[in-house]
Amino acid sequence: MSRPRIFITGGAGFIGSRLAVALSAAADVTVYDNFHPQAHDGNPENRARVSDGSISVVEGDVRDPDALSAAIAAADPTVVYHLAAETGTGQSFDLPARYNDVNVMGTAHLVEAIRGKGPSVKRVIVAGSRSVYGEGAYVDAEGRAAMAQERDPARMEAGDFAVRDDAGNVLTPALTTAACPVAPASVYASSKLMQEYMLAQCFWGTDVDVGILRLQNVYGPGQSMNNPYTGVLSIFARQIQEGQILKIFEDGDIVRDFVLVDDVVEAFRLMGTCEEMPADVLDIGSGEAASIVDVAGSMLGMFGRSEKDLTITGQFRPGDIRHAVADISAARSQLGWAPQVTLREGLQRLVDWSRQSD
Ligand SMILES: NC(=O)c1ccc[n+]([C@@H]2O[C@H](COP(=O)([O-])OP(=O)(O)OC[C@H]3O[C@@H](n4cnc5c(N)ncnc54)[C@H](O)[C@@H]3O)[C@@H](O)[C@H]2O)c1
Repeated sequence: MSRPRIFITGGAGFIGSRLAVALSAAADVTVYDNFHPQAHDGNPENRARVSDGSISVVEGDVRDPDALSAAIAAADPTVVYHLAAETGTGQSFDLPARYNDVNVMGTAHLVEAIRGKGPSVKRVIVAGSRSVYGEGAYVDAEGRAAMAQERDPARMEAGDFAVRDDAGNVLTPALTTAACPVAPASVYASSKLMQEYMLAQCFWGTDVDVGILRLQNVYGPGQSMNNPYTGVLSIFARQIQEGQILKIFEDGDIVRDFVLVDDVVEAFRLMGTCEEMPADVLDIGSGEAASIVDVAGSMLGMFGRSEKDLTITGQFRPGDIRHAVADISAARSQLGWAPQVTLREGLQRLVDWSRQSD
């Protein structure tokens, strides 16, 4: 039997480069990436990871339909992973045209390139984002599912960061699942949702199966410490090494679900190789809640700094949501996937790596 042929857009990035390496032992892998300066400047290791000659690397932009079609035609892939994207939530408000060009039009070009290729492509798997849920799943005082509203800047200005329903009642966070309604709260999130919709719509009723993994906050060694728009834990690592006091937004109790990059790569690998790819959208996270102030304190401790070297600023940013933790039961049951690395162990790996790269 011939080896599978894999095509990964954004395959030189933080997640993509590890995925390329993980697949390359059993498949012919082509990476298509424009080496976006924001992701790669001052952070050469992800690009280096795919540059030992065992992986075919094509420098190209998903906004360039001819180059993308030519690369797909040459690679003749059986499985396509779509990871190339502009990834900064805050930045997306300032650069809506660029975010749409890359994330939305880039996906449209990918669809047309795959269609032009003919029948070899069997699966397209996209790196979705939990940001499509906006504030995500909440319950009311009676424990019933409730629709969280976008938070009111005036209340936040006054130090009230609670999430409320449309009648103003404070809600309690719950685990987010794909059954949750989507409510993107940023240009980035809207563009990520468009990627999902477009792939599902364009390949509906064809022989191409579409797989969607909605990722929570992915972290780990190799995440750029210089990109100010993504990867809060990498940014903390740099700031701690520079001797800065960490500035924590809101009241510190923003909650995230941090999942180590190696665990995410395994989820992608399973999606591409499993007998029957799950048709449902799958949420990929640790399934554990971690408050930003606690994680910042743990990282400070691991660097030998005082866990008090942080300040809670009360500042807030548009598009930031309050609480995000995934219900990963569907990924467990349908994909046979579960995260393997605890947050403490993963943070230690991040800290060790960032010390070496200093
Ligand atoms: N890291 C996270 O926490 C997270 C969470 C949810 C979803 N995601 C999604 O996962 C995917 C990968 O993210 P990552 O964290 O590895 O980011 P990354 O920035 O390290 O990787 C993205 C890669 O895409 C490439 N790229 C960007 N624009 C391109 C373009 N126009 N043409 C071709 N290549 C381009 C970049 O050079 C980079 O190598 C993205 O789609 C992102 O939206 C990431």
